[in-house]
Amino acid sequence: MALWGGRFTQGPDQRFKDYNDSLKFDYRLALEDIEGSIAWADAIYSAGVLTEQENKDLKKALEELYEEVSENLDEIAKCDDEDIHSYVERRLIEKVGNLGKKLHTGRSRNDQVAVDLKLWCMKACDHVLSSIDKLQKQLLKVADENQGSIFPGYTHLQRAQPVTFTHWILAYIQMFERDYLRLINAKELLSTCPLGSAALAGTAYNIDRDALAQALGFKCATRNSLDGVSDRDHVMELLSCASISMVHLSRLAEDLIIYNSGEAKFVELSDKVTSGSSLMPQKKNPDALELIRGKCGRVVGALTGMLVTTKALPLAYDKDLQEDKERLFDAIDTWIDSLDMAALVFEGIKLNKQNAIDAAKGGYSNATELADYLVSKNVPFREAHSIVGRIVLYAISKDKALEDLSVAEFKEYSEVISDDVYPCLQLENILAKRDIIGGVAPAQSAQEIKRMKEYLENR
Ligand code: ARG
Repeated sequence: MALWGGRFTQGPDQRFKDYNDSLKFDYRLALEDIEGSIAWADAIYSAGVLTEQENKDLKKALEELYEEVSENLDEIAKCDDEDIHSYVERRLIEKVGNLGKKLHTGRSRNDQVAVDLKLWCMKACDHVLSSIDKLQKQLLKVADENQGSIFPGYTHLQRAQPVTFTHWILAYIQMFERDYLRLINAKELLSTCPLGSAALAGTAYNIDRDALAQALGFKCATRNSLDGVSDRDHVMELLSCASISMVHLSRLAEDLIIYNSGEAKFVELSDKVTSGSSLMPQKKNPDALELIRGKCGRVVGALTGMLVTTKALPLAYDKDLQEDKERLFDAIDTWIDSLDMAALVFEGIKLNKQNAIDAAKGGYSNATELADYLVSKNVPFREAHSIVGRIVLYAISKDKALEDLSVAEFKEYSEVISDDVYPCLQLENILAKRDIIGGVAPAQSAQEIKRMKEYLENR
């Protein structure tokens, strides 16, 4: 059943219908469309369009439909209706006859789809928030279990200074925390209800739009009907939140792919999230992580697509906006799946402590310490930097670590170096010295883990 047709003398070409119909993807808005319709029935009842009995009958039928479709949403996609709004209206009319035809009074599919999608976005935010929360808790668990484990720290992918595995994990917990807060902000910002904007000029029926908004769980009504039906900022914003978070996930994935490589062997991934090669029997590939890294492109693509679709779009509603849904649904699904997959990776991850320590020891990552030592002996830092540079060059030529040089060898470069240099070069001491907020000292990490645990449990 089409929702229009009176002014047409010919039906649509099948090829146009296939191109135009959106039920195959907007069926995912079925529950939100019914929720919006129930609230709308109350609104037009209060405006005197429906009798009390009619309102009751309509709502009862809509509630029944809600139960029926929530069991198997996917089934809806197979129907021939133009979109989810046509589907719900047809099913309603099948249940209550002509009364069902009254529900659309004062409403347009333009404000209907706008409110449906916002309701969907609010629920999607909650799902994503819960997945971020689970990932952070899993990361915190592994950070806690590995406290004090020395790990090589990099800049330019060159060994720079020693860190701990825990400190590295805590960095990602911070990134996901920003993703979490960003999403809360986005959810807050989208909490205005466009229903009542009708096609573009606002409904002609006297309804209390703020009350309608609150009945649907929004903070208040949108303040301009043209904007109400054409605003898709929330789609762009959720896609932007998703993109930034997927970028974080891709960095996490890439770090782990490197740490898990045969060259590094700092961590070992569990069999549960890796797969083998059909040709090379020895292979164990980090597919879960590679897919997380790869899917980032798909989500960023969805954001780019939505921005371009909306660019220069004239007010108010245009059919271009129908292009908002597939990419939003896909991006949110992908985001949730990737967060969950990252959590699964950390369920079975194993740290190869010794390999990590060996790597942290190599690469002269205690050279900065030697410079600081010289500074403590009153050598100006710039000079100390240059002295240590020359000592490193010498050590490389001897294939020795700094701590393996003798005092006599050190003294060739600076008279002030004596026996007390060795403790300064020890990794444990290097870490322990950085005991400030955000620093790598294990004592600092222990506090941070405690703080994050309390925070995550109580938010
Ligand atoms: N399927 C449409 C969409 O997703 C619903 C709104 C249709 N409005 C219209 N005037 N044809 O945007």
